[in-house]
Amino acid sequence: MTMNDKSFEPKILAFCCHYCAYASADLAGSMRLQYPSGVRILRTPCTGRLEVEYYMRAFENGADGVLVAGCLEGGCHFIEGNLLAKKRVAAIKEILQESGIVKERLRMINVAASQGPNLVAAIHDMVNTVKELGPSLLRGKTNGPELELKEFETLNSQQ
Ligand code: FES
Repeated sequence: MTMNDKSFEPKILAFCCHYCAYASADLAGSMRLQYPSGVRILRTPCTGRLEVEYYMRAFENGADGVLVAGCLEGGCHFIEGNLLAKKRVAAIKEILQESGIVKERLRMINVAASQGPNLVAAIHDMVNTVKELGPSLLRGKTNGPELELKEFETLNSQQ
């Protein structure tokens, strides 16, 4: 599969915080807004709960891109969880760049629970970016082409 392969459907894991981003995904669903089938939405209590290993495991498990969606700055249910996530994402982007995975494969956005259309627009934008980049160099080299969500079950079981 090459960068210009039009059939390439990126596997995107979207970590969505329970209080805003996941609620906005629910709203988008009730508005019948759609996003590509390669996108997997995973609820997390707060983006601040996402340790570095969760991001790395997402790529190791076949994600071509990872989107992190948290509450608007100042609106995190856990006060500063999204600010912590913002710092982590910036640091992980550097690691991704140095390891050849490319930092644009990771992106953080902030949405309010009422912004379902914004979330869907951000997902489409992320998918388009990753389509341009082509498949991640880790794809197919670890656990296979399918994104394994069970890796992340502990995120919600500890809520
Ligand atoms: Fe939404 Fe913290 S609860 S980012």
